[in-house]
Amino acid sequence: MNNILLATDFVDLRDRFRAATGQPIPALPPGPLPAGPAQLFQLLEDGAVPEVVVIDERSGTEAALELATRLNVECPGIAVVLVSDRAAELGLGAMRAGVSDIVPTESDEDEIRQALDRALRVTRQRSPAGQGDGADPGQGSQSGRGRVLSVVSPKGGVGKTTIATNLAVGLARSEPHSTVLVDLDLQFGDVANALNLSPEHTLVDVVQGVAARDSMVLKTFLTQHETGLAVVCGPHSPAEADLVGVEELTHLLQTLASEFRYVVIDTAPALTDHTLAALDLTDDLVLLTSMDVPGVRGLRKELDILRDLGMAFERRHVVVNFADTHSGLTRSDVEATIGTGVDLVLPRSRAAAVSMNQGVPLLLSEARDPMTKKLRHLVDRFTPAPMRDPRPAKATAGPGFGGRHRLRRKGAQ
Ligand SMILES: Nc1ncnc2c1ncn2[C@@H]1O[C@H](COP(=O)(O)OP(=O)(O)OP(=O)(O)O)[C@@H](O)[C@H]1O
Ligand SMILES: [Mg+2]
Repeated sequence: MNNILLATDFVDLRDRFRAATGQPIPALPPGPLPAGPAQLFQLLEDGAVPEVVVIDERSGTEAALELATRLNVECPGIAVVLVSDRAAELGLGAMRAGVSDIVPTESDEDEIRQALDRALRVTRQRSPAGQGDGADPGQGSQSGRGRVLSVVSPKGGVGKTTIATNLAVGLARSEPHSTVLVDLDLQFGDVANALNLSPEHTLVDVVQGVAARDSMVLKTFLTQHETGLAVVCGPHSPAEADLVGVEELTHLLQTLASEFRYVVIDTAPALTDHTLAALDLTDDLVLLTSMDVPGVRGLRKELDILRDLGMAFERRHVVVNFADTHSGLTRSDVEATIGTGVDLVLPRSRAAAVSMNQGVPLLLSEARDPMTKKLRHLVDRFTPAPMRDPRPAKATAGPGFGGRHRLRRKGAQ
């Protein structure tokens, strides 16, 4: 039994558990109990995720039951055994916290062994593979894989974060626990602000350590939005951007795609290495421009670069934002310049700025605004709802676009 973790400050209890199992058992460092699973996993010295966590209630009843509850909800692959002499008193609370057994503080080795055996049986029954929550990612380009949607633009400030956050909450509402949003603007990501979140963990924490090795642990590091959307927020400071390696990022996105039906990625302006890594896994590319000459020309160049890189997307969605009848540009002008059809035009909207400032995406706000309606249409493009806009992307200008389901780099098979 080397898959047990002890959370107790009492040395004699540790010794008895060791004697009962016949081997050393990892224990958390002495001190207050971790607030939740993610904090607990960060304390693991060898990084091995336990199947049973033994929590000593003498460290604090409330903290012990809170940790047990969160492990039960967030990590169904882990069983909790409580050490306490107040079993009768705690009964209902412990049951509600999902505790699988309560052993007295003076239990002998046999009692401990039996409790651990029972707990291991419980956890293995609940989750044979020891990880995941059984969610069906589905719908991706490869069977069993979620659908990866990236929102990109060559220029800054054109509405990528606005669109990515609305798209993500729209998809999350269409199906509970289906969607994760990743802020890939490593230096100045503002997804957390746009959703009014205060993340405890960021992208930096999930591309390394135990979260990078175990998908169940990874999920405990995600920030939860009230809609059920899971979010990987950007690093706390621009200096931390260097801590996110491209290979580690690819691994993270692959894991998320195996756990969620939709992975929505907000990106930084321009085609950075990290954005290119995301594009390699992207099923649906949302290309964005503002309705002005520099923006539209920038998009034309981006399309050329993607074509030169041999990157083609069958599911590509060109969106023009900040449309304004006074801009002097029409949809046809934009289409003529970029050499391809525009799929959606979003109007300039006062409510958009207000919603960003309040941290409430337009799709969740009460505001009646033309942009909200258009954003709903955008969400419908990705859901199987009957409202889905049937219009396919128009034929593309140059060779290399369209016709291929997955993007490929030049020279790839
Ligand atoms: N259609 C719109 N009408 C009016 N304001 C908008 C519209 N779309 C976005 N905005 C506002 O424009 C600003 C920039 O939008 P956003 O942050 O989404 O752009 P971005 O492309 O993500 O920027 P960056 O490249 O800096 O990350 C925000 O204040 C947002 O509220
Ligand atoms: Mg942004």
